[in-house]
Amino acid sequence: MAERVTVVKGADIPEGGSVVVNVRKKDVAIFRVNGVLHAIDDMCPHMGASLSGGFVEDGCVSCPWHYWRFRLSDGAWADNPKVKLGAYPVHEADGVVQLELPD
Ligand code: FES
Repeated sequence: MAERVTVVKGADIPEGGSVVVNVRKKDVAIFRVNGVLHAIDDMCPHMGASLSGGFVEDGCVSCPWHYWRFRLSDGAWADNPKVKLGAYPVHEADGVVQLELPD
């Protein structure tokens, strides 16, 4: 059964913005795009850049170092979807944001 973990206030993620939260010893980037929150692992699998600082366009975030692109919807590397980052359901209610994490 998945666990919901409160990670941040909703107001801390403005439209078009992102934050990094550390949960279960892992950094997770949360993005708000067109009013929808998306959460994927923050560390780029290429050389470890923080994806939260990347450019978001067409449902993907581009890594700020070498521009690998990852889909916000499922964490897949856009050029090779077999490579996937962790992606987590996000819930926002009563002013707080929760990540749904697997057991
Ligand atoms: S560190 Fe992300 S593409 Fe190189």
